[in-house]
Amino acid sequence: MSNIAARYSNSLAGVVPMETTLHIRSGSGSFLETESGERYLDLATGIAVNALGYRHPEVMAALAEQAQRHLHLYGGTGYQDVVIDFAEAILATVGPQYQLFFGNSGTEAVEAAIKLSRLATGRPGIIAFRGAFHGRTLGALSLTASAARYRSAYEPLLPSVYHVDYPAPTRLGLTPNQALQETQRQLQTVFDNEIGPERVAAIVVEPIQGEGGYIIPPPGFLEWLADVAARNGIILAVDEVQSGIGRTGRMFAYQHTAIRPDLIIMGKALGGGLPISALAGRRDLMQAWTAGTHGTTFGGNPLACATGLATLRTIEKENLTAHASALGNVALDILGALAELPQVCDVRGQGLMVAVEFSGENGPGLVRQLIAKALEEHIILHAAGLRHEVIRLMPPLNIDRTLFTDALHTIARLIAELSSNR
Ligand SMILES: Cc1ncc(COP(=O)(O)O)c(C=O)c1O
Repeated sequence: MSNIAARYSNSLAGVVPMETTLHIRSGSGSFLETESGERYLDLATGIAVNALGYRHPEVMAALAEQAQRHLHLYGGTGYQDVVIDFAEAILATVGPQYQLFFGNSGTEAVEAAIKLSRLATGRPGIIAFRGAFHGRTLGALSLTASAARYRSAYEPLLPSVYHVDYPAPTRLGLTPNQALQETQRQLQTVFDNEIGPERVAAIVVEPIQGEGGYIIPPPGFLEWLADVAARNGIILAVDEVQSGIGRTGRMFAYQHTAIRPDLIIMGKALGGGLPISALAGRRDLMQAWTAGTHGTTFGGNPLACATGLATLRTIEKENLTAHASALGNVALDILGALAELPQVCDVRGQGLMVAVEFSGENGPGLVRQLIAKALEEHIILHAAGLRHEVIRLMPPLNIDRTLFTDALHTIARLIAELSSNR
């Protein structure tokens, strides 16, 4: 074991296992550079965080400018332009009917959504979906249902949380239409047999399941959920932590539909690389939060607001949502042919949330081999899916077209080679 690996495993808990042996020095654009000077194309972006890659000049300038002022203030200490500018810029992307609450991480924004939903409705129940990932703090973890190992040791979790299957066709072995019907049937069963809809505070849903394998639900799913929620006085909360900030070709993935969620949960790329999250809520719901009924020390950190604002402005100025859409289509064109292979059961994507799912028992093994082979080609990939049978691509939104196209051809070649060895 190298010296650095030994120091890591001696000083840091094994609960965050190292996935590569790379000794990273810095990042620049779409690349990470190691201490020995090798460059790696990063298609994992710190798990969908670095939307503009590394050290984007606008983001670095905003960071330096704010760092000259102050690094931290408790949000209630006094008015700060940067915090309000950022909040207004986010609201401009979702609409003036919302207000914001800033937190530090995705899981905290999910906690905020759970608390506000219970407070505003006076109801206990929360509906979530199998395969979902909403975070690891105990409230959010109660909604997460993508792996038993995330949850088992920490039971009992939050009561009154009910799960139904996400309409994931390949996972359920159904057509998209059948999968949607199955989800609809299961939710009705929950309402009939477990908790009446009048006792449900919120339905929390990822518009595209992230950790669950970049599952794009059948058309009509979100519209149906919004209708169920509206008819029953249930809050609809969309978790856009992974799918948000331009990644799918719209600023938020729910914006591919006509729904107007009651709550929008944001995180990851929101801060342009610094930790910040936000809960956007309908104004009337947010008013249920009277002074002191929720709070945070670090939420809305001014450095993260500055880098987040620079990121949002750059995405808009450079029309990176359109770029993400166009490159997503390139990815589906190049990788789509792989769906013919018996080892590949699906190639899918929306914008720059792109996935290749491998079939059967060998799927997770193939994914492990593919990640290792790609690393030999200096490409960093990340797995997803309930059995880690999926490769997810989440490159920077501003990745160069030729660079990305070349990487896609390499990945396609590796998948074809690995498949022919089976
Ligand atoms: C959809 C979704 N929600 C919530 C979270 C939790 O975010 P964090 O890890 O910042 O707490 C994640 C993290 O992967 C996520 O993908």
